[in-house]
Amino acid sequence: MSGEISMIGSVILALFLAGYLGQQYLPPPTPKVIGLDLGTTFCSVGVFHPGSGEVEVIEDEQGRKSIPSAVSFTATGVLAGHEAADLADRNPQNTIYDAKRFIGKIFELEVLEQESIRYPFKVINNNGSAEFLISTNRTFSVSPEFIGSRLLLKLRKMAERQLGVLIQKAVISVPAEFDERQRNYTVRAANLAGLEVLRVINEPTAAALAYGLHKVDVFNVLVVDLGGGTLDVSLLNKQGGMFLTRAMAGNNKLGGQDFSQRLLQYTIKRVQQEFGVPPTLKEDIYHLRQAVEAAKINLTLQPSVTLRVPLHLQTHSSSGTPEGAAPAPVLFQDVITRELFEELNEDLFQKILAPVKTVLAEGHLEKENVDEVVLVGGSTRIPRIRRLISEYFGKEPNTSVDPDLAVVTGVAIQAGIMGGSWPLQVSAIEIPNRHLRKTNFS
Ligand SMILES: *[C@@H]1O[C@H](CO)[C@@H](O)[C@H](O)[C@H]1NC(C)=O
Ligand SMILES: *[C@@H]1O[C@H](CO)[C@@H](O)[C@H](O)[C@H]1NC(C)=O
Ligand SMILES: *[C@@H]1O[C@H](CO)[C@@H](O)[C@H](O)[C@H]1NC(C)=O
Ligand SMILES: *[C@@H]1O[C@H](CO)[C@@H](O)[C@H](O)[C@H]1NC(C)=O
Ligand SMILES: *[C@@H]1O[C@H](CO)[C@@H](O)[C@H](O)[C@H]1NC(C)=O
Repeated sequence: MSGEISMIGSVILALFLAGYLGQQYLPPPTPKVIGLDLGTTFCSVGVFHPGSGEVEVIEDEQGRKSIPSAVSFTATGVLAGHEAADLADRNPQNTIYDAKRFIGKIFELEVLEQESIRYPFKVINNNGSAEFLISTNRTFSVSPEFIGSRLLLKLRKMAERQLGVLIQKAVISVPAEFDERQRNYTVRAANLAGLEVLRVINEPTAAALAYGLHKVDVFNVLVVDLGGGTLDVSLLNKQGGMFLTRAMAGNNKLGGQDFSQRLLQYTIKRVQQEFGVPPTLKEDIYHLRQAVEAAKINLTLQPSVTLRVPLHLQTHSSSGTPEGAAPAPVLFQDVITRELFEELNEDLFQKILAPVKTVLAEGHLEKENVDEVVLVGGSTRIPRIRRLISEYFGKEPNTSVDPDLAVVTGVAIQAGIMGGSWPLQVSAIEIPNRHLRKTNFS
């Protein structure tokens, strides 16, 4: 009798072992939930691999981890991402970008008219909602959520191609300041792309997840997101396994473009000093702009760069002929040091601290009580900005995740949690905070 029992015991043990070993050695399940970052200028898709515990940001055929948030309409079809951005010059009225700025928002008529002036495409008013007027061989209008859906469809296809399975579920991130309507229309964009949305999470929360802050003992997390055109600062509280947004502030007119613009103004002055005339040709300005953009990026790693830009200045011929202007090919060369770049932008960099101080005040927190500072957005690669923030808080910020991919990385982790591939983790549930207002400095 006891022999039988011990035999049954062994069988059960053997079954357990087989199950355990099976789990160890069978190929891990393919992720079925994707994480989406639908950004204003770029978007990305990521997945959490339960086997390795790693996040994979999906690449396109050319190995690029993000696609421009642009959609272009032609007589023969609709293009999204890089193919659309490549058409922006040739098909400007029908290439829509920045659609995220319009999604789910109700506008005053005059505001939409002003917005429309800023873009090469037509923004029209449909009972308070923005729509884009497209004119190929026929004329029609499309909604911001339709633009979003074409981008999300592209991302979904990239994930399906990489994983070799059909994808129908997703987690998506939105700015913390998005209200319920903006969140609903973002979900609608995903639905139009054939995706069921399991959860919508705030971008700063996603960034905190990317650094694993849901797994460690922290309470107050401050997220600084500085992109091409906007600064967003959020103060998060973690309570148990849940993040709560305590305060937000920002500046919607501060970002990488402004830093490049300062450098451009400087080089224009240098051209004038050296050649006696300022660059006025559109192409010259374009080439200078490209060069300063590259220089700005280089200066995050190198102490100095040399600009070399061929120009065709409109000089007045010395003989004073009535024709006057004649293009003179010259080579403009100048050394730009990181120090100079910092001097040109110091006042702008200092503006980053205003919303930081506001969220601390609104959260009734001293800067010493912030446990972790997380930096997101390409412009946080600028060494002076990192130093400014680490000096202010007296501690190093979290910067090890690529600042352009921190949000998608965090959304992919949340997708992994929702997909059940993370049984041992407390889920980082977000407590929606409907009554929060964002303070804007600009
Ligand atoms: C527009 O052009 C495309 C391709 O040339 C054609 O297939 C389509 O029928 C045209 N549509 C209209 C309304 O003319
Ligand atoms: C326009 O919007 C208002 C509320 O914003 C709504 O009551 C009305 O039905 C809408 N009209 C149309 C034609 O959609
Ligand atoms: C958002 O969607 C939910 C669920 O579909 C709905 O109950 C709610 O009224 C919507 N809110 C807004 C502001 O559109
Ligand atoms: C930027 O740096 C790389 C090397 O890191 C160099 O090859 C490139 O020419 C530099 N660009 C400029 C504009 O100086
Ligand atoms: C960044 O975050 C991790 C938590 O995952 C923490 O352990 C680390 O100390 C943080 N700070 C820095 C400067 O990396």
